[in-house]
Amino acid sequence: MVFARHLTKKEIEILLRMQDFVKEAHADSDSHDYSHVFTVCLYSIGIAKNVPDKCDPFIVIAGALLHDIGKTNRVFSHIHGLLGGGLAEEYLEGLSVMPSLIDAVSQVVVRHTPTSMIPPRTAEEKVVYDADTLDRLGLMGLLRGFVGKEGSMEGILTKYMEKRKADYAKLNYDYSREIGDSLHSELLDFVFMVEDRLKARLASIEHIFEKEGLVAGGSKAR
Ligand SMILES: [Fe+2]
Ligand SMILES: [Fe+2]
Repeated sequence: MVFARHLTKKEIEILLRMQDFVKEAHADSDSHDYSHVFTVCLYSIGIAKNVPDKCDPFIVIAGALLHDIGKTNRVFSHIHGLLGGGLAEEYLEGLSVMPSLIDAVSQVVVRHTPTSMIPPRTAEEKVVYDADTLDRLGLMGLLRGFVGKEGSMEGILTKYMEKRKADYAKLNYDYSREIGDSLHSELLDFVFMVEDRLKARLASIEHIFEKEGLVAGGSKAR
């Protein structure tokens, strides 16, 4: 399936301005920087072109660009979907976008994250939801998952793998699951290697006494 229509010239201008605004707004973000926003944008376009539902290109692209605008305020990041929906609305009103499009984009922003506890309903909302989820999977997702986290490496890794399993289960489209599968398999070999290394790093010191010839008569240390 292709997009439901082409973008107008004015919409392209608005999206380019929006890109500059979003780059600036995310300038101090860590794992939710512009590279994440841009990746979600690319995934969104790819998914929208490969699902049975017809999507509006402006709603998908503007929704993807603005989806984490509420995350630029770190204090309230747990409700960033709801916050971002309001911010997106204000921003789009300032650019004189049609009210029906403003509402649709704002809903994409609100519903892109499970933390809003309001599931996606329209095709555009589901597309951006899946795209955002996909950037949490795979190797890049793993790296992003470590940014700013506190705790032990194995603790962060275990939690990360559990959360991504739950994320994968909530994907809306078969096409998104296909991408998710390939991202996950690229990750597994790496994670198994990291788990082996972590096990070696966590081994007890008594295991090395004999191995390193530090025990008289070859007996164990105790
Ligand atoms: Fe988000
Ligand atoms: Fe995001």
